[in-house]
Amino acid sequence: MLKIIIAEAELEPMPRSLRSLPVMKKKYGRKDVVLLDSNYHHTSMQTLPDAYRRGRPDIVHVCLLNALESPLNKDGGLEVYVHTRNDKVIYIDPSWKVPKSYNRFVGLMEQLFSTRRITAGDTELLRMVNKTLPDLITEVSSGMPVKVMHYEGAPYEPDPDEVLVIGGFPHGDFVSDLPFSRFSIHGEELVAWAVLNHVVYGAHGT
Ligand SMILES: C[S@@+](CC[C@H](N)C(=O)[O-])C[C@H]1O[C@@H](n2cnc3c(N)ncnc32)[C@H](O)[C@@H]1O
Repeated sequence: MLKIIIAEAELEPMPRSLRSLPVMKKKYGRKDVVLLDSNYHHTSMQTLPDAYRRGRPDIVHVCLLNALESPLNKDGGLEVYVHTRNDKVIYIDPSWKVPKSYNRFVGLMEQLFSTRRITAGDTELLRMVNKTLPDLITEVSSGMPVKVMHYEGAPYEPDPDEVLVIGGFPHGDFVSDLPFSRFSIHGEELVAWAVLNHVVYGAHGT
């Protein structure tokens, strides 16, 4: 089983300091949760700490589209977890059909931050809990090797059973203390979904 953690993903509700700005009140009215998105909130969010890397739900969207539609997932060989800024963890049922539309994906994530669960019939498709990245890694690894994917690391070789940590942020580095070996697939920094696709398709049939 390949387990992928999309870690420190920049997926978060707009912080209160921004949400209370007149421009946001005018745009979003009384809406409960608005996802922070640097495409739309670039100017207003410059006052936030770490503004250069925040507000990137699109990274999670593209990663999940690729992961859940992959043959490895269809064959039952993949588990994907999303860990976000502010230590929320999203548990994902592998049968979940990720919305192809970005706007629908954002709407669903806003609902998830609000209700903590998305269900279809008896199936819990998505569940959100408060959990740190180290705690999530401990929970899902249970004796499996844990590898942090990083452009500065030893050459990556797949193992049949492993936990791979891929950063869900656009710039910078992991903030959490991750005492695991780092593995690289290329000498340059790549986008998260390129790394995810490499490992997911590499694992299929191993
Ligand atoms: C856009 S990168 C984050 C930018 C960052 N400066 C970095 O460390 O690469 C997103 C994630 O993809 C993974 N990644 C990027 N390039 C990689 C490479 N060449 N080999 C393995 N993993 C890589 C890392 O997990 C990284 O956190």
